[in-house]
Amino acid sequence: MADKKAQLIIEGTAPVELPVLTGTVGPDVIDVRSLTSTGHFTFDPGFMSTASCESKITYIDGDKGILLHRGYPIEQLAEKSDYLETCYLLLNGELPTTEQKAQFVSTIKNHTIVHEQLKTFLNGFRRDAHPMAVMCGIVGALSAFYHDSLDINNPQHREISAHRLIAKMPTIAAMVYKYSMGQPIMYPRNDLSYSENFLHMMFNTPAEIKPISPVLANAMDRIFILHADHEQNASTSTVRLAGSTGANPFACIAAGIAALWGPAHGGANEAVLTMLDEIGDVSNIEKFLAKAKDKNDPFKLMGFGHRVYKNFDPRAKVMKKTCDEVLGELGINDPQLELAMKLEEIALKDPYFAERNLYPNVDFYSGIILKAIGIPTSMFTVIFAMSRTVGWISHWKEMIASGQKIGRPRQLYTGHAQRDLPR
Ligand code: ACO
Repeated sequence: MADKKAQLIIEGTAPVELPVLTGTVGPDVIDVRSLTSTGHFTFDPGFMSTASCESKITYIDGDKGILLHRGYPIEQLAEKSDYLETCYLLLNGELPTTEQKAQFVSTIKNHTIVHEQLKTFLNGFRRDAHPMAVMCGIVGALSAFYHDSLDINNPQHREISAHRLIAKMPTIAAMVYKYSMGQPIMYPRNDLSYSENFLHMMFNTPAEIKPISPVLANAMDRIFILHADHEQNASTSTVRLAGSTGANPFACIAAGIAALWGPAHGGANEAVLTMLDEIGDVSNIEKFLAKAKDKNDPFKLMGFGHRVYKNFDPRAKVMKKTCDEVLGELGINDPQLELAMKLEEIALKDPYFAERNLYPNVDFYSGIILKAIGIPTSMFTVIFAMSRTVGWISHWKEMIASGQKIGRPRQLYTGHAQRDLPR
């Protein structure tokens, strides 16, 4: 893997030879692990040029707009697979056979119910709490409810925790929503598919069980697939870093949820709708575009731009198609959704956005779809967290199995040198 070498010349010292590692696809990587012995660190605060780990799960080519899970393009998975099959693929490395798929679905269904006492825990939260705050707390607390499988050095325990998390996240998310609404919590129904069951737990009540629209269930499944994993993004890197200390998987996923919450990451889909509220009307679009372009104004066009995709976001393409299907099925005539479509049209033609390769990302369209389905804005990032749980836990499993050292970055210190107290 390390045929090439890089030479680093630091003035006044002998050249340092560093191995260059080559992956299956993607840029070569200069292995700087030995650099510390020369008395130097590398400096890359936003990880702009740093590969933090080796992984076999997901590959992204941001310039070409490619996203592969275990080698399979996201467009093919969104079109021809379903969420649970994609989960199996991410976790295990290969697509399941028919028998393996049936077994996996049955295992996940076996774990959909959460411990009854979690309801008591939930009752401690204010009803107007942000659902992400409640999710962070409840998922972290799962380690107190399922401590029979917390030995991270036992592969079977790691697998059971992964299955529990994938199975229970929709149940917890729907519980959090029902709690905020003051409605009775709906138990999961294992005769339904993963996405049908989620919509059932969200929107049905004991008083009225309505059938789930297949178009909406498909759209939901697609949202889950498109958010399932995205290599070493901020929340996944957080899960890996927390996991490298030996923390239990539920605590690590809670850390991932916290990192996802920020508006620069998973909070963007909620921020898109908040921004549309702020813009208010098509006639204000130009004014807000000017704000987005003004360097002295902190306003950004939420749902536009991406750290890695500098051409287009392949997930956004699929999501836009689903968005059209959902709006068509529901026959929605919502001024806010019309505003979103107009904003997209005007921004795409604007040279500022074109020159900087700023395109709508997956969150721009997912926010619109979720709103159309009737999911409240504050639940958007929760749904992202549900979908991403499989990615987080797949990376966590890969990292634990690889025996990675604790993650402990260093720094460029610019504070005071040692000094004495003035007394
Ligand atoms: N609106 C207006 N200008 C923008 C935007 C935006 N949304 N995004 C980037 N820019 C501008 C920057 O001001 C910068 O301009 P300059 O070169 O004149 O200084 C240029 O585009 C490059 O932007 P960076 O901030 O350097 O890009 P970076 O890779 O650091 O940030 C990010 C990417 C955080 C996603 C950013 O585009 C952003 O904040 N977007 C809005 C939030 C969002 O939608 N996040 C979701 C990401 S997808 C996800 O998490 C699933």
